[in-house]
Amino acid sequence: MTRLDWTSQPGGALHGSVRVPGDKSVSHRAMMLGALADGTSHIRGFLEGEDTRATAAVMQQLGVRIETPAEGERLVHGVGLHGLRGTTQALDCGNAGTGMRLLAGLLAGQAFDSTLVGDESLSRRPMKRVTDPLALMGARIDTQDGLPPLIVRGGQPLRGISYTLPVASAQVKSALLLAGLYAQGETEVIEPHPTRDYTERMLAAFGWPIEFSPGRAKLSGGHALRATSVDVPADFSSAAFFLVAASIVPGSELRLPAVGLNPRRTGLLQALRLMGADIRIENERESGGEPVGDLVVRHAPLHGIELPEALVPDMIDEFPALFVAAAVAKGKTVVRGAAELRVKESDRLAAMANGLRALGISVDEAPDGATIDGGLISGGTIDSHGDHRIAMSFAVAGLVASGPVQIGDCANVATSFPGFLGLANGCGFRLA
Ligand code: S3P
Repeated sequence: MTRLDWTSQPGGALHGSVRVPGDKSVSHRAMMLGALADGTSHIRGFLEGEDTRATAAVMQQLGVRIETPAEGERLVHGVGLHGLRGTTQALDCGNAGTGMRLLAGLLAGQAFDSTLVGDESLSRRPMKRVTDPLALMGARIDTQDGLPPLIVRGGQPLRGISYTLPVASAQVKSALLLAGLYAQGETEVIEPHPTRDYTERMLAAFGWPIEFSPGRAKLSGGHALRATSVDVPADFSSAAFFLVAASIVPGSELRLPAVGLNPRRTGLLQALRLMGADIRIENERESGGEPVGDLVVRHAPLHGIELPEALVPDMIDEFPALFVAAAVAKGKTVVRGAAELRVKESDRLAAMANGLRALGISVDEAPDGATIDGGLISGGTIDSHGDHRIAMSFAVAGLVASGPVQIGDCANVATSFPGFLGLANGCGFRLA
């Protein structure tokens, strides 16, 4: 990948309507379940990002025919639960932890062997959190000292287990549920903190019997998935950058239409409101079984907070954006209970703390969080560590900096938010 650096310049107020792309989590799952279903599934609003396209390419390598009638649309010709064909080629998940972890569960139940590989960042991310519980189900998956590549041995009979997650992780929960489709008996996952429930909702939409409530999901093997249509809502995690941007730039007002508002995703909305943000939800409705609404955000003076730990799993991808809000807010913001941030696409606690310090903000890093003392952001140079959300967060910081903010290594923004640059500049960023 060619290296891409950005400069974000301070500008004026942000205005307009920003239509952010489809939800990454929903797009991955729709592609996987569509592939395993009987019949043709129609996905609308599919995220045209590198992560979700990698998942689509993997399904194609496994013998699934996928058509793209238009951008953001896919027709997935499902092959049925036992219709995938093995390949000796490596299956490349790119930058996507969700792709690799969910596929580990899905492939554990197949008759053939598979090899899952990823990019440099994904190759550093912990996989034992999925391979250990999958082994309890009878799966055989080799890791490289707990890291990718994963070699998934096929032909293993799986049995259902009841498993309590040691860390809040929708990816681990989903891997176990997908393996559970192929297992004898019941697979139950219990979560100490409820996480996003898209796998559960979507399995139900594809006709698989499943019981679930916040913190618990249970299904049994041996049923079938029926093709369906999936309308993917706009990704709250992509909207998050604009929520923070409009909140911190005086005079701004932005509208973000049709954003997915699953309560397991909207922790940042609550956090920003606790800080004094002015964000309204309009036209709340249901689309494809998910709550959706238009978000209207206006500038408001923010103040620091002690972030309630209970919000952490509901905003796990939004901390880089929250840190920028905290850097602008009056007073201190304290984040704890967020050690998971150290094993995302980068160590996000270190990346944000170092980046904000380079822009003159005082940050105390803790093993599981940070304390950010709001102040004046200066210009400077920061490293995104190839992490899409770090890059976009510092693009937002540049809006209120006293000089240009130079951000290194931004190409991975395309993993989750193709078109960010155009949308951002369209509403008032000065990003190039
Ligand atoms: C995701 C779950 C989260 C999140 C990731 C997407 C998913 O990861 O950070 O971006 O789609 O299931 P964990 O489940 O590992 O916390």
